[in-house]
Amino acid sequence: MEQITVSMTVNKRPVTVRIQPYARLIHVLRNDLDLTGTKEGCGVGECGACTVIVDGLNVNSCLVLVASMEGKEILTIEGLADSEKLHPLQEAFIKHNALQCGFCTPGLLLSAKAVLDKKVQPTREEIKVAVSGNLCRCTGYEQIIDAIEEVASKGQE
Ligand code: FES
Ligand code: FES
Repeated sequence: MEQITVSMTVNKRPVTVRIQPYARLIHVLRNDLDLTGTKEGCGVGECGACTVIVDGLNVNSCLVLVASMEGKEILTIEGLADSEKLHPLQEAFIKHNALQCGFCTPGLLLSAKAVLDKKVQPTREEIKVAVSGNLCRCTGYEQIIDAIEEVASKGQE
């Protein structure tokens, strides 16, 4: 099949890839752009491990064809921290022990960022709904919600 060219912005950097039209975003991020912080769990839209932010919305990158990403702004976990300084959500996850194996963590952090970008101080219930598509097999979720709520309560994004 003939390859297509897609130009997008990934973590504030313009990127152009030449790719098969059926390629999924997660595989382009991981295999072509070396952004392996985005994890593939189920590969079918069930676990949220592959979550990235596209034009402000958290999406499952395993369900997205890169062909639909022309001109889009994509944020992956590699772009969350501000150069050397961790994002407040990352600091809060560490403080609250909100991770164990860490496989779900990039996706959870980006779903959390998406909700904080939309609403400065979401309630605990709103936070739970916002990350309900992100499954974690390790933590029991309480520490994750505590961490996000702490950042939300300070009005940080
Ligand atoms: S890997 Fe995409 S939702 Fe599970
Ligand atoms: S920390 Fe292991 S799956 Fe969430």
